[in-house]
Amino acid sequence: MNAKTVPSWYDELCTTNLIGNARTFREAIADLPRIAQSDASIIICGETGTGKELIARAVHYHGKRADFPFVPINCGSFTDTLLEEELFGHERGAFTDARNRRAGLIAEAEGGTLFLDEIDSLPMKAQIDLLRVIQDRTFRAIGSSVQHKVNIQIVAATNVPLEDLVRRGRLRSDLYYRLAVFVIHLPPLRERKEDIPALAGHFLSKHLPPAKAPLALSHEANVALMSWRWPGNVRELENVIIRGIHLARSGTIGAADLRLPKSAGTAAQQPDPYQLSHTDTRPMVVLKRELIEGFERRYLAHLLARHDGNISRAAQTAGKERRELGRLLHKYGLDPSAYRRGASV
Ligand SMILES: Nc1ncnc2c1ncn2[C@@H]1O[C@H](COP(=O)(O)OP(=O)(O)OP(=O)(O)O)[C@@H](O)[C@H]1O
Ligand SMILES: [Mg+2]
Repeated sequence: MNAKTVPSWYDELCTTNLIGNARTFREAIADLPRIAQSDASIIICGETGTGKELIARAVHYHGKRADFPFVPINCGSFTDTLLEEELFGHERGAFTDARNRRAGLIAEAEGGTLFLDEIDSLPMKAQIDLLRVIQDRTFRAIGSSVQHKVNIQIVAATNVPLEDLVRRGRLRSDLYYRLAVFVIHLPPLRERKEDIPALAGHFLSKHLPPAKAPLALSHEANVALMSWRWPGNVRELENVIIRGIHLARSGTIGAADLRLPKSAGTAAQQPDPYQLSHTDTRPMVVLKRELIEGFERRYLAHLLARHDGNISRAAQTAGKERRELGRLLHKYGLDPSAYRRGASV
């Protein structure tokens, strides 16, 4: 997808709170509007802080279930029995303390979306019970013999690599295949660095206290943001900007105000570009292209940050014709104006 083929729903998402123009990100969410109109289950995977919950909410609020509840549950926060209790609810007298009937989250989500976060922590018993919910669209409260019909869309999220979910026994394969009708892989921030200026600007306006004078990121701060590897992804960037807002002493957030690790930007902190997985069976030619594209994208984003979005100077440094550089920037969805000084405020 490039800038000219952006569908209207995408602009609509961006005007709400979902920021991202990098090709890796756009490709990851390209099917989102059609997925949102379906009843099929979805697994969203990605490292911590990549925006899985935000995407789950986007699926819900841009789909046909928007007027019904969005009900999140973190599968890793409950003991086995408490999780069952949360999900399915109980009848009066189902156990010693059950003085009243209590509806579970599945019933609460009726008509809407049940968001199962950290699906990899789902206990085996709950996995079997959920299988029935997905398959027959029915469930039974604890202590009840009555089967209830339910109309919900299930969206699950995990930061465990998908291939490990089933292979390492974290998820039953029958449940996995029922959930993974659609799979959305969210890229880590280091693979969409060109989005950093826009995301930083978004967090700056989101977190600037109303009583505080406007703030801008200094050139050095922008360069530091571009060179960090962001193991905590977008959430880490958001926290760094909040820190910068509160530590800045003038109208500008300096690089030091961000309190990024001292080594940010040094070669030692860059991710190993040859990170290869034992489970990756794609041909060499595909991996090589991916590696080269990853390098080009990062290089160009750095180049623009260094030259404040000035294409002529960037082309000179890169040893390329201006037009050729323009073509490359277009290929990676990089907008030079986003790198001009003060552009991210
Ligand atoms: N594309 C984005 N545009 C704007 N804000 C984003 C984007 N992606 C993530 N965020 C923000 O970053 C923070 C983390 O996002 P979210 O909670 O969705 O991540 P997550 O993948 O669910 O993380 P975890 O795996 O740790 O649960 C949130 O405040 C969210 O609003
Ligand atoms: Mg989350």
